[in-house]
Amino acid sequence: MDDTKMSEQTSESVSRRGFIKGVIAAGAVASSSAYLFRTTPLLGQPSAPGSVERLITLNVNGQDRRVDVMKQETLAMTLRYKLGLTGTKLGCDRAECGACTVLIDDVPHYSCSILTHTVRNRTIQTIEGLERPDGTLHPVQQAVIDEQGFQCAFCMSGFIMSAVGFLKTNPSPTREQLAHGISGNLCRCGDYDKILRAMMRGAAYMQKTTT
Ligand code: FES
Ligand code: FES
Repeated sequence: MDDTKMSEQTSESVSRRGFIKGVIAAGAVASSSAYLFRTTPLLGQPSAPGSVERLITLNVNGQDRRVDVMKQETLAMTLRYKLGLTGTKLGCDRAECGACTVLIDDVPHYSCSILTHTVRNRTIQTIEGLERPDGTLHPVQQAVIDEQGFQCAFCMSGFIMSAVGFLKTNPSPTREQLAHGISGNLCRCGDYDKILRAMMRGAAYMQKTTT
């Protein structure tokens, strides 16, 4: 075999090998992200027509963030796994526990039950966006620390976001009103008394900072 032929064959096999490797890598990435974001058909059902990835802008914690989202992707998934905001927790993933609570236009919402593409023109605030740029904690966060208000604290960020949202509408609630205001959040450790004490202290701190 002459040199020219051999070099042609070698470069062809290299490019074929590279191509095959590329396909396997892309397939692995596609299938793992598909698992994570539920793009694969569930129980043999086909994907919804038109379910394609879209690049959108979300306003999160005062910043515009560009992100690829699928039509069926929930806000909790986008925040946690695409924007790295893991302070938002996923508990039940079906609108029951409140662990995933974030503020959308200042109102608490279960981010596990909101499709990301529906909030592209709204303002989203997560637990990471509560503290001031100089590192000062939000009064409710500070109150949780001072009161040692949680056990395992898995539910904590959801409770804090709910309380912050509620206190925007009722800055000086009674304990009963506050309990009702954050009743969409569950604590598996059952630490409600301490949680309520902490949230009431947070309300008191907020009143001090605004007077
Ligand atoms: S994870 Fe969203 S309500 Fe439980
Ligand atoms: S403190 Fe553990 S779930 Fe609430």
